[in-house]
Amino acid sequence: MGLEEDVAEFRTASRDCWEAGAAGWSARRAAFQAAAAPVSHWMVEAIEPQPGQTVLELAAGPGDTGLLAAELLRPGGKLISTDGAEAMVAVARERAGELGLMDMVEARPMEAEWIDLGTASVDAVLCRWGYMLLADPETALRETRRVLRPQGRVALAVWDTREVNPLLALPSTLVVELGFAPAPPPGRPGPFALADREELTDVLATAGFQDIVVDAVALRYDFPTLDAVWEQQVDLSPTLTNAVRDLSPADHYRLRDAFDERLAPYVADDGSLSIPGRTLVAVAGA
Ligand SMILES: C[S@@+](CC[C@H](N)C(=O)[O-])C[C@H]1O[C@@H](n2cnc3c(N)ncnc32)[C@H](O)[C@@H]1O
Repeated sequence: MGLEEDVAEFRTASRDCWEAGAAGWSARRAAFQAAAAPVSHWMVEAIEPQPGQTVLELAAGPGDTGLLAAELLRPGGKLISTDGAEAMVAVARERAGELGLMDMVEARPMEAEWIDLGTASVDAVLCRWGYMLLADPETALRETRRVLRPQGRVALAVWDTREVNPLLALPSTLVVELGFAPAPPPGRPGPFALADREELTDVLATAGFQDIVVDAVALRYDFPTLDAVWEQQVDLSPTLTNAVRDLSPADHYRLRDAFDERLAPYVADDGSLSIPGRTLVAVAGA
């Protein structure tokens, strides 16, 4: 990846950012998961969870995809729900409790590039919107393959290109266009860093995976008003969270005006919005 700054600094800054973002992700969990559910379903179907199996979720955030699989592991199975940010792990643990799954869910902090589990110790790995954020996704995928048992599968999601994800792309586009941040160097970790299907296939193959299938899942985000879009994105988008915290009131308004202007094509007569998005999904065998 084209990391210009020190890799260790990137990892620390990224973890701090997600630790700080966990409260917003917790607050928006239900709405975000409602929109993202088709992706979780694709991934869980791809690993075909069986009773008694152990499934690992990496970069789980609030944990929804793993928790969807957990029900299917009964009786005797286990979900290991992990994230690099402890505050995110706490959100997933609380959610597992709400779903009555704590007897079979181990929620703990774990770096996706250093998987703290034995070789060939899990039957499947899930990672929704995680690998492309890492300093070294190939190392994380090698680690993923190491912990998978023979025949085990990884199912993952990474965002498709900026062009088909107008909502997700908007904060980072605007902060650069408005001169609030420099353009990131190409290849830097971020939401769109693995949006090229060939590159995704190559990195999976280089990490040793086989029977690689890459597909796409269309998404739709529905909001009652532009204010609702802004408020949700301030909670979910690290770029927007940081911008709102750091900008002067005048620049904050400039950002908000530009945000509304770009989303105007999606506003219906009643003020509601329906914004399309698309993610790549993949499944591969160890
Ligand atoms: C975009 S969120 C996705 C959360 C969740 N998988 C979902 O789909 O709702 C990215 C998550 O990756 C986690 N993460 C980022 N870098 C990580 C790393 N190096 N190791 C483990 N988790 C990491 C963040 O803490 C955050 O929870």
